[in-house]
Amino acid sequence: MNRQIKIAPSLLSCDFGRIREEIQKIEASDASLLHLDVMDGHFVPNLTFGPPIIKYIKKYAKLPLDVHLMVTNPGDYIEPLADIGVDYLSFHTETVYHANRLVNHIKERGMKAGVVLNPSTHPMNIEYLSDIIDFVLVMSVNPGFGGQSFIPSSLTKIKEIALFRKTNKLSFEIEVDGGVNDQNSPILIEAGSDILVAGSYIFNSDNYAEKVRSLINV
Ligand code: DX5
Ligand code: ZN
Repeated sequence: MNRQIKIAPSLLSCDFGRIREEIQKIEASDASLLHLDVMDGHFVPNLTFGPPIIKYIKKYAKLPLDVHLMVTNPGDYIEPLADIGVDYLSFHTETVYHANRLVNHIKERGMKAGVVLNPSTHPMNIEYLSDIIDFVLVMSVNPGFGGQSFIPSSLTKIKEIALFRKTNKLSFEIEVDGGVNDQNSPILIEAGSDILVAGSYIFNSDNYAEKVRSLINV
């Protein structure tokens, strides 16, 4: 395996009462990014945190922040998150009329821009964004909760996107989020995924570093 696979632990499954220690433990592992799930209780039936909490996390986190917006108004979050110093910012194509405008805005503010696809969204939703996005986030569960099972058709979608990327000599990264574990990580990597998000698989264990390693060493 010569391409570098990035593991992005999703803090959604961490112990929020001890979030600073949880992040320190992740930073002692081979993880590459911290995945932060912003949910508004409207686009998804769950509510998490927003810029004020992310600002606090940014004060001590050393790993780059990968913010996944699950909100109906992602455009409103670009400026606050850019000011905080977020590194990767993605929004769902299902939530906006003007995805091209948002991608450009995110990039103008110096962040990597990504678009997210729900499990039922067609992969070629990204076709006319593919030359400007930095990454695509393929949801392999219905967004809103950790601990769900991987939806098998997501693998086909990743393969289709990877083939499209290769055929068109594009360079965006492919990120996959939901139900990722050591059983499916080898096929996800082989299919073309570059960034694996994992929440419950890592945080429901006693040894985060070992779990992170088990996802990379395939
Ligand atoms: C779900 C979130 C995920 C979630 C993944 O809406 O986007 O990032 O934390 O959790 P697991 O890995 O447990 O499926
Ligand atoms: Zn996520």
